[in-house]
Amino acid sequence: MSNLMTTSFTAVDLDALAGFEGRIALVVASDGKLDAGARRVNRLTKGAVARVIEAGKLEDAKAGTVVTLNFPAGLAATAVDILCLDRRPNALDARKAGASFGKLIDQGAALLVAGSNAKTVQIALGAAMRAYEFNPHKTSVDDKVRSLSVMCAKPEEQETEATTLRAIVEGAHMTRDLVNEPANVLTTTEFADRLKEMESLGLEVEILEEAELEKLGMGTLLCVGQGSDSPSKVVVMQWKGGASEDKPLALVGKGVVFDTGGISLKPGAGMEDMTMDMGGAGVVSGVMRTLAMRGAKANVVGLVGLVENMPSGNAVRPGDVITSMKGDTVEVINTDAEGRLVLCDVMWYAQDRFDPIGMIDLATLTGAIIVGLGHENAGVFSNDDDLCKAFLKAAEAEGEGAWRMPLGQAYDDMLKSRIADMKNIGGRAAGSVTAAQFLQRFVKNGTPWIHLDIAGVASVKSETTLAPVGATGWGVMALNRLVQDMLEA
Ligand code: BES
Ligand code: MN
Ligand code: ZN
Repeated sequence: MSNLMTTSFTAVDLDALAGFEGRIALVVASDGKLDAGARRVNRLTKGAVARVIEAGKLEDAKAGTVVTLNFPAGLAATAVDILCLDRRPNALDARKAGASFGKLIDQGAALLVAGSNAKTVQIALGAAMRAYEFNPHKTSVDDKVRSLSVMCAKPEEQETEATTLRAIVEGAHMTRDLVNEPANVLTTTEFADRLKEMESLGLEVEILEEAELEKLGMGTLLCVGQGSDSPSKVVVMQWKGGASEDKPLALVGKGVVFDTGGISLKPGAGMEDMTMDMGGAGVVSGVMRTLAMRGAKANVVGLVGLVENMPSGNAVRPGDVITSMKGDTVEVINTDAEGRLVLCDVMWYAQDRFDPIGMIDLATLTGAIIVGLGHENAGVFSNDDDLCKAFLKAAEAEGEGAWRMPLGQAYDDMLKSRIADMKNIGGRAAGSVTAAQFLQRFVKNGTPWIHLDIAGVASVKSETTLAPVGATGWGVMALNRLVQDMLEA
């Protein structure tokens, strides 16, 4: 895990403020009233905090606004960051305020003086999420050791929420690490090894190798990886925190560790971005980590299909007809529409083996979803209004954009093939919808299902509220909450 910041909650100790070495954050509402911690810092700095307020710097300020006093006289601290936040903020504003602090924490210790703010843990969550950096390949960057202490009223009462915070932060950071990791490092084998390590958290982790996948008949998944020297794998992660008789929720992720397009080769410009094409598998892995770390009282199984899509003398060709595990045949028109070929076999296997109460797949599936929704929302496709609504509600509560898209027979008809049961692409029109329709052909009658096309949100070129440029970890918080709402309430 790259530079995970530890987060601890302690009682307010005003006398510790003067000597604290590191960054100190104060939380001040737009009315400018200072709590005990802020008053102490103000006194020690001979009124510097009050001058910021008198100068009008916090007037009409919104959550996320921060005013920094660098190397303040009277304190050992390197900086005092004044975070603007209402006294009774909602959770998302609290995270935003925390994030504006987390972004500034570079190295060493940081102290958040939260006092009796009702959303203390949410402020800390924002800080910890935004403090993420991916630098294992920067030789000039030393190993950073960073810690966040939160001074607050009744720290022991924050511990339950704090456990969830740490679980979410670690899960999301794992997702980001996987998504940011280049494909020469994160091979299918390395990916599976990292998941196997999660057994130490109490997850059951199985790695299905190619011979096994062949026996299972996963022809469409295997055809994607057949041009690569890296072996294709399916990893099954089971979290059994619920009653033994309860069927699990299944999460299925597309794990294309690199997508060249295969024989239908992608253009060179921007191809390096396809190192994030395992984003769906990355989110599934991160959610499983979060659930295990917080000891979720629910049964959830995460399955990821790990393959590399490469051109070679052995690669699948346009025009090839492949048989899926379900038995349906697919005419591969475009080898760059590979994600659905991976997912359909893993989805079928998930239902066949686990008979799940619901199935959610995640994939960086189509460029078309970026055309449609940009980087603000993931595309949500579902055959079940109740499950879909529950997910959209969870995503909204966590501030993760999600927008429902249509499904329908007319779109499905676009997949008709002259020589096989279906083609792997529709046409130019409605590319994200026909991709989802393809997947729906592998959803059994009666399985509530959601497909999340995260091509636009998994990794971004400009920073978001809680993440720097690069992998966002989108979906870890929403899915964790969905599990909470649906299975643990
Ligand atoms: N991995 C890509 C989709 C993608 C594009 C993800 C941009 C992230 C950013 C997927 O495998 C793909 O190549 N899809 C094709 C489908 C087409 C051939 C029908 C696409 O979107 O162009
Ligand atoms: Mn592709
Ligand atoms: Zn792809």
